[in-house]
Amino acid sequence: MNYIKQKVEVVDEKKLEPSTTKKVQRILRAIYITLYKATLQAIARFLNFLVLAWLSFYYIAESIVRNFTPRALSTLKSLRGKTILVTGGAGGVGQELVLKLIKYKAKVVVWDINEKAIAKLNEKVAEEGFKLYPYVVDLADRESVYKTAEKVKDEVGPIDVLINNAGVVCGQTFLELPDYMIERTYKVNTLSCYWVNRLTNINLTLVCPYFINSGMFEGCKPHHAPMLEPKDVAKRIILAIRREEDYCTVPGNAGYILAMKQYLPAKLTWLWQHRIIRLPQAMKTMRQFSEVQAA
Ligand SMILES: NC(=O)c1ccc[n+]([C@@H]2O[C@H](COP(=O)([O-])OP(=O)(O)OC[C@H]3O[C@@H](n4cnc5c(N)ncnc54)[C@H](O)[C@@H]3O)[C@@H](O)[C@H]2O)c1
Repeated sequence: MNYIKQKVEVVDEKKLEPSTTKKVQRILRAIYITLYKATLQAIARFLNFLVLAWLSFYYIAESIVRNFTPRALSTLKSLRGKTILVTGGAGGVGQELVLKLIKYKAKVVVWDINEKAIAKLNEKVAEEGFKLYPYVVDLADRESVYKTAEKVKDEVGPIDVLINNAGVVCGQTFLELPDYMIERTYKVNTLSCYWVNRLTNINLTLVCPYFINSGMFEGCKPHHAPMLEPKDVAKRIILAIRREEDYCTVPGNAGYILAMKQYLPAKLTWLWQHRIIRLPQAMKTMRQFSEVQAA
């Protein structure tokens, strides 16, 4: 009996062992799958490289054409009939933007916290024979932003162009800044852009201006160039929007100084800012931020 049992077990083990052909087939299949995957990956990487190379070439060419085409020849986006939202539209640059945009026959929506200034602007626009869509809203309050956005959607329609112009500034040094003002600056100047931008699907144009004579930096005495006028900045912003620029500094040559800053040692840029441009000294002459302005 024992002998028979042993014999049966030997036969079964042999049955379980794969034949050499099957082993080879399995190895070949594994090699094939590995090679197949590697080839696909190589093709995908090559196609990715081609797309990247093409887009790099295209964007460089686009930027060269955009920057070197005379303004008179460049194609400008029409603003006629477009719904344009200007935040902080009752203030210095914002108001100039509004007064220019209505003349392009755009539907201009203004958001501002300053009720009196917004009412005054509304009257001015009506006197010129145009219609304004004014809304009093505190951009530092997210819920208020969302509610006003819903109202605008119902009463005016979707926004085509958004100008995130509202801003606050505090004329104190870093260590003197009151906590509430640090929070408010972030809420109005930064966070509100997230809440408002979410409401639209738009191209982005970043505008970086030098000092503007709007009252925001009242008292500042820049050393090398006079302050810009709000109406000139508004004109440049509208041109940047119409040319669908991604980034614009006002004045244009400030862009080279900003770019240079990236390549110079930080201590050197501070030295030059202090001794040549004298920016910190200019800022220190600014009228101190008052409670009235913060409210
Ligand atoms: N003035 C400058 O020198 C200068 C320089 C660089 C950048 N900027 C930026 O340009 C933009 C326009 O500046 P400006 O010189 O016309 O300033 P401004 O103070 O004349 O106008 C700002 C407008 O934003 C409104 N605002 C402030 N807080 C608000 C809030 N919580 N909710 C809704 N509206 C609010 C104000 O009521 C005002 O109408 C700002 O974003 C500013 O930071 C200005």
